[in-house]
Amino acid sequence: MKTIVLSLGGSVLVPSLESNTIQRYKETLIEISRDCALCVVIGGGGEARRYITAARKLGIDEAFSDELGIAVTRLNAALLIGALGDAAYPKIATTYEDARAFSEHGKIVVMGGVTPAQTTDAVSAVLAESMHADVMINATSVDGIYSADPKKSPDARRYEYLTPEELLRIIIGERLDAGANTVIDLVAAKVIQRSGIPLVVIDGRDPETLKKAVLQGAYSGTVVSEKKQNPLPIQGEL
Ligand code: UTP
Repeated sequence: MKTIVLSLGGSVLVPSLESNTIQRYKETLIEISRDCALCVVIGGGGEARRYITAARKLGIDEAFSDELGIAVTRLNAALLIGALGDAAYPKIATTYEDARAFSEHGKIVVMGGVTPAQTTDAVSAVLAESMHADVMINATSVDGIYSADPKKSPDARRYEYLTPEELLRIIIGERLDAGANTVIDLVAAKVIQRSGIPLVVIDGRDPETLKKAVLQGAYSGTVVSEKKQNPLPIQGEL
């Protein structure tokens, strides 16, 4: 059975607690998990940013602010586990070892953050590497990796394919503070490079996009891989 590690941005699953899209994601995740082993890593979203902003105002340092961010990712992960019910392993994986052991039960494994100075994209990349996943998908609030921030630069161009080296060159120079919001963090990009596991970045704001990407291989996004080929659908000739 193929393995997918999904980095599900907090900005799409829990933009705020009130506006969470868990109900809409639930069926999609269950459907995808019928065809593959699925591990989902949840980001902190707007609530993590609120905590980090409050922490900074209190003069709390970045490492401790990151710990607050991690706590929120785990709360979001717990909310998703509860909503998935029997389809999910009932405990949050807090280590990669946990995630590997939980996945033996054939259920969706859900994880949040792990350690300061990174984001859940890095967690996803390490998890993908340690599970020998076939693909990592980053479902976020933008439909791929652009030459500049598409929200600020109308000339920004979306890359259809990037090699891991090209991705690293794009990222280098960006800062990584608590709550930083780059499309993929440096640690994640380095792990993607060394593992050779293909990364697909898609727009996660509508769960239908993820479903079509995984089950039909139909999406517009960015593929990061040495090979210029689409690693989806998961049942295809990967
Ligand atoms: P993320 O940055 O991964 O969540 O974690 P997000 O912003 O919701 O993800 P996107 O942008 O939607 O994809 C939130 C914060 O938690 C801390 C960092 O401060 C991060 O900015 N964190 C998370 C860590 O320090 N370590 C981790 O392993 C994960």
